[in-house]
Amino acid sequence: MAKTKTTFYCQNCGANSPKWVGKCASCGEWNTYVEELVQKATASSREVWHGNGERQSPQKIQDVTFDEQNRINTGSTELNRTLGGGIVPGSLVLIGGEPGIGKSTLLLQMTIRLPKIKTLYVSGEESLEQIRMRAERIGIRSESCFLLAETSLVEILNQTNHMKPDLLVIDSIQTLYSDDIEASVGSISQVRECTGRLMKYAKQTNTPVMLVGHVNKDGAIAGPKVLEHMVDTVLQFEGDRHLTYRILRTSKNRFGSTSELGIFEMREAGLREVTNPSEVLISPREAFLSGVGIGATMEGNRPLLIEVQSLVSPATYGTPQRSTTGLDVKRLNMLLAVLEKRIGLRLSAQDVFLNIAGGLRVNDPALDLSICASIFSSFDEVPIPEKACFSAEVGLGGEIRAVNRIESRISEAAKLGFEEIYVSKHNIKGLDLKKFEINVKAHGKLSEVFEALFR
Ligand code: TYD
Ligand code: MG
Repeated sequence: MAKTKTTFYCQNCGANSPKWVGKCASCGEWNTYVEELVQKATASSREVWHGNGERQSPQKIQDVTFDEQNRINTGSTELNRTLGGGIVPGSLVLIGGEPGIGKSTLLLQMTIRLPKIKTLYVSGEESLEQIRMRAERIGIRSESCFLLAETSLVEILNQTNHMKPDLLVIDSIQTLYSDDIEASVGSISQVRECTGRLMKYAKQTNTPVMLVGHVNKDGAIAGPKVLEHMVDTVLQFEGDRHLTYRILRTSKNRFGSTSELGIFEMREAGLREVTNPSEVLISPREAFLSGVGIGATMEGNRPLLIEVQSLVSPATYGTPQRSTTGLDVKRLNMLLAVLEKRIGLRLSAQDVFLNIAGGLRVNDPALDLSICASIFSSFDEVPIPEKACFSAEVGLGGEIRAVNRIESRISEAAKLGFEEIYVSKHNIKGLDLKKFEINVKAHGKLSEVFEALFR
């Protein structure tokens, strides 16, 4: 009998080694190597995909027909947008996200909202009763959504061959196992094999398959990187579990742009789409508060107006505190240094707290000017005019720098009823300012902006 061969696989990145090693040479993680049996390629896995099962000869690219209309409309504009305009038949979509962020809710909501499309929702994590309870919460009845609580891949494929669904949802890929593989559930070999088989199923039957994938502690989709290579589209569902806003980001898409993003709000009765995010991200002003500044940023291709709140107060203990939510604290420290050195604000004995409203995380430098203005406003306790907003980067010399896509940012601010926007003077060259229904104020230095704002 041939000796069975085993190899050690890194459970984080999928690298392998003939011997056990403590630290993965490829991704640097410790203690991630697990011994798994090496499978000889079976006849089925060696098979090459021939479209609908038929052998094909090369065709002229112009003769290949396609139909954009074939995409399945998910019934959600936000989800359609991130998918590049709907689900492409035969595609494999992976949705990753932290536990409890709402992946199951998003997919269940989508499947029960597709009226004329026969969907099969397979869950390896919840029982049918639990899924039904969730559907009750969401409050939609569907005649075309079928549920299956199963973790055996063979069994799932048997069912799909029998039922022939128009869309298959697997929640989650890490709970599936294939009998052919003698490795534990959720291991690299299992995840890879199951994804491979599902991919073949998707391409052969032209049925779209959507997979839920867990993420590991770094936020990467657990399982090998090959998983991301195998699928057509990778969506990341992000947000803070304790806050209500969720962002669905496209990180890979063979059928659309990767700079797309959808925004949802988690409600009592499921996820609600947020089609005009700027309106909800800016809180209605109760009073004229100091320390609140509005910045125009871009998330993907969408302009967003975001509220920056800061609180500057005298430090009572030795070292002043600097803390941020939704922003890199290093960026704040840099801007504080610029304010101290170039404007002369005595911030070194002040605690500074900074908050991006709505639970968003931003790293767009165009927010710099709104951050500086909000800190100045809190320090001096003078509110920023309610109808003013900002969109510019601040350099180390206190200079106001240009940002990309300024036209979209200005238009969005105008659309939301702002009356003036502060931008860099280097940004408006060749721009027809008259076409915007907003007063565009262009400056070159931080001190000029403050003078104009607070006089
Ligand atoms: P879930 O979809 O189970 O997350 P995941 O599959 O990503 O682990 O979402 C779980 C959270 O969503 C849970 O904390 C409860 C909340 N939730 C609501 O607030 N409203 C709802 O209608 C539903 C179904 C869930
Ligand atoms: Mg879940």
